[in-house]
Amino acid sequence: MQNLKTVILHNREIAPGYFRMAVLAPGYPMQAKAGQFVMLRIQQQNQPLLRRPFGIFKTGTLAAECSGMPRREFVELVYKVVGSGTKLMATLQRGDQVELLGPLGEGFTPVESDTPILVGGGIGLVPLFKLAEDLCRQGKQVRLLMGGRTRDDILGITEFERLGVETYVSTDDGSLGEEGLVTAVLERKLAKYPEAVVYACGPTPMLNAVQAICAKNETPLQVSLEALMACGVGACLGCVVPGKEHREDQPDYLCTCRQGPVFDATDLQWPESGGDQ
Ligand code: FES
Repeated sequence: MQNLKTVILHNREIAPGYFRMAVLAPGYPMQAKAGQFVMLRIQQQNQPLLRRPFGIFKTGTLAAECSGMPRREFVELVYKVVGSGTKLMATLQRGDQVELLGPLGEGFTPVESDTPILVGGGIGLVPLFKLAEDLCRQGKQVRLLMGGRTRDDILGITEFERLGVETYVSTDDGSLGEEGLVTAVLERKLAKYPEAVVYACGPTPMLNAVQAICAKNETPLQVSLEALMACGVGACLGCVVPGKEHREDQPDYLCTCRQGPVFDATDLQWPESGGDQ
C-alpha cells in the first residue's frame, strides 16, 4: 500500500453519468489484485476533500509518447456521479493533482474451476474486469452476466468481449439484451453448468438474490461488497458487516475495507429470504 501524490491522465464520460479516470500510479500493474480498491482524494481550491473508495477497473503501462510523463504505469477507475464529491471529480482534467491510497483490501481468489461465471450489476462490473483478465490468461472460458436498469448501466462490454469473455446482458427496461433481472440468467446458467464457480459484485439486493441462488445450487460464491468507507484502512469501523456467527448477544462483524471488499459468501450473514431485487 502506498500514498501517492499523482496526476490524472484522462477523465471522460463513457455513458450518461459514468466516468472513466486514469491516474499515473507507478507499481500498480504489479501490485494491484482483482477486486482491490483505492481511496482517492481530490482538491478543490487547494482544500483537500475526504477520500472516497473506488474499485480498480484496470492497470497498465502507457508508451512514453502517450503519457508525456516519465512514470508511465497507471490505474484506471470507473465511477458514477451520485453526489457532490463525484460531481466535482467529473470536472477534473488531465494534469490535475489527486492523492491515491492503495491498493487496498482483499481481492478475489480465483478457485480451480473451468466454469467461472461472473455476475455484475451496474458499477459492480468494474472490479470484475481484472478478474476476467486473470481468468482468461489462465485459459478459462469466462461467462459474464451483466445487469442494469438500462443500457447505460452496461459498462465495458466491448473490452470484456475483446478478452474472449462470453457476455450475457439483461436490463430492467429491455433497452439492451433481454428484459429482466440478471439473476434470472444466472439461474439458467447454473442449470446448464452445475460445476460453476460464481464471482459477483453489484447492489445489495442483487447480491442477496445471487447468494440465495448459489446456496440453493451449492455453488461456491465470492462477492465484492459495496460499502460506505471513510478511512479505507480499518480505523473507523464505519464499513462493518455482520459475519456468519453474528447474533444480537454475540456480535461478529467483518471490516469491509480490511477483510474485504471480497468475501467468500459463506463467511457473511445473509437475509433468510434472499431479499427482493
Ligand atoms: Fe474505516 Fe473500513 S472504512 S474501517
